[in-house]
Amino acid sequence: MTYFLPEASQQTEKDRLNYQHNMMLHILGGRLGQAPVHPQAQVLDVATGTGIWAIQYAEQHPDSTVLGVDLSITKPQGLLPGNCQFQQLDAENGEWPPTQFDYIHFAHVIACFDDTKAVMKKAFDHMKPGGWIELHDPELRNIADGDSAKGTAVEEWVQLVVKGGRIVGRDMLKSAHYETWLNETGFVNVQDAKFPLPFNEWPENPKLKEVGAIYKHNLLGLVESLTKFLTLAGLSHTDAKDLKERAKRDIHNPQIRFAFAVHVVYAQKPFNGIYVHL
Ligand SMILES: C[S@@+](CC[C@H](N)C(=O)[O-])C[C@H]1O[C@@H](n2cnc3c(N)ncnc32)[C@H](O)[C@@H]1O
Repeated sequence: MTYFLPEASQQTEKDRLNYQHNMMLHILGGRLGQAPVHPQAQVLDVATGTGIWAIQYAEQHPDSTVLGVDLSITKPQGLLPGNCQFQQLDAENGEWPPTQFDYIHFAHVIACFDDTKAVMKKAFDHMKPGGWIELHDPELRNIADGDSAKGTAVEEWVQLVVKGGRIVGRDMLKSAHYETWLNETGFVNVQDAKFPLPFNEWPENPKLKEVGAIYKHNLLGLVESLTKFLTLAGLSHTDAKDLKERAKRDIHNPQIRFAFAVHVVYAQKPFNGIYVHL
């Protein structure tokens, strides 16, 4: 149980996570998730961070009950909805609550677990038949065409983050495997939708330009949050600081076409004895 990013209780990380949450809402047309969950559901938000998703889900679904769990619980500001609770839990090594959930949600957990597939299996075992799992995670690989990013600092930053992550068992490309892992775990109706996250306003398409403007802001924070991976990859603190500054300058440069994809993956636990092939 090692987590390499700052705790969600730190103000700059809290701001970044809330901003990222709003970016996901923008991408998903205002929806908190894509799975067709019924309105009276028992919901678990794993690695809840600031708890913003759990609180909003509870507010929007007053007949559901929502539990947010995390290694460390950040005290949410203001009054909590009565149908929302938080609990400290190491979701990989700890014992999950005995509840059988209808919907288990994970957002931005790519740097969290030693064995994500084993955590998917835990979710499967703690879910009612017909229940839904949903994961939102980026894949740290450039999906933009052309070679404008070749040899840039931001390209080097991404390569070193991936290298540093691998050294400690955090594959920052693993969201590309979620669909396969969910199928192998026994889930059915697996959907993997990918949405582009341009690094700034470089795309011509106005909608992508808008996402780029939002993601740029989040990315500037992410460059700081992922510092540990640069030193794990072998950079000195001085070189890491220098690379981060140069990468941030590139993130502002619309001549450099860079984009990650964020995977929005959801799947259903089969009903006992029934499999409706879609
Ligand atoms: C990048 S944040 C994402 C938080 C939130 N899901 C969001 O989208 O804003 C990752 C969170 O995972 C939590 N975390 C890391 N490892 C965990 C584990 N083994 N069990 C539970 N939570 C974990 C961290 O404490 C952190 O709050």
